[in-house]
Amino acid sequence: MDDDAPDEVLAQIKERQLGVWGVAQIAVGTGLAVYAMWVGILQPGFRKVPLKLQVPYIPASKHQVQNVMTLLRGRKGNLVDLGSGDGRIVLEAHRHGFSPAVGYELNPWLISLARFHAWRLGYHGKVTYRREDLWKVDLTKCKNVTVFLAPSVLSLLQEKLQTELPDDALVIAGRFPFPDWQPCRIEGHGVDRAWAYSMQAQKQRLLEKRQHRVDTVQ
Ligand SMILES: C[S@@+](CC[C@H](N)C(=O)[O-])C[C@H]1O[C@@H](n2cnc3c(N)ncnc32)[C@H](O)[C@@H]1O
Repeated sequence: MDDDAPDEVLAQIKERQLGVWGVAQIAVGTGLAVYAMWVGILQPGFRKVPLKLQVPYIPASKHQVQNVMTLLRGRKGNLVDLGSGDGRIVLEAHRHGFSPAVGYELNPWLISLARFHAWRLGYHGKVTYRREDLWKVDLTKCKNVTVFLAPSVLSLLQEKLQTELPDDALVIAGRFPFPDWQPCRIEGHGVDRAWAYSMQAQKQRLLEKRQHRVDTVQ
């Protein structure tokens, strides 16, 4: 039996060159693994959603969740998280007294994970996760809305929220702010930052802008 000392074996391995073929194999293997993960775990549910509206799953950090909850302080009533991922914001909102607390999510794996978390923590039946496209959800009765989505979809989402939400609604955006709205409060720093928007103020600003345009044309 070959009984080389471990450090000699390590030195031999280090000396070996990978070569072009080895590098190519690692690259192809990694590419396939990433593709399989995207198709099998992250992408299900998105087939009918246009590519430019597909937002990948990235869970909110602990501080981000805390910042969102700080901005919701003093609010009550229902809450929806648009693109609820593993359900952490919905669970935390329920703990803070929001009811009903509902998450809308397209990815079936994440819906199952969110339901599992809720069951494990004793909130089974107290929070709701629905497998629905957030762009098709009727928001006309929502009082508190949280979102953590990609910047590329936020301007389109602004229009939907402005059209559907009641005046007394509050919208909280995590990590990325809405491009044209004026926040009433901001909490946290860097990637954990969250922005609060009063719908009444946004609608008022929109009216003023339109009036200004009319005035300048006349
Ligand atoms: C950045 S993650 C945020 C997850 C969660 N809200 C959080 O804060 O941890 C965005 C989530 O939105 C979901 N999503 C993206 N587009 C969606 C759509 N059209 N309808 C429902 N969910 C969507 C994604 O699957 C992903 O889980």
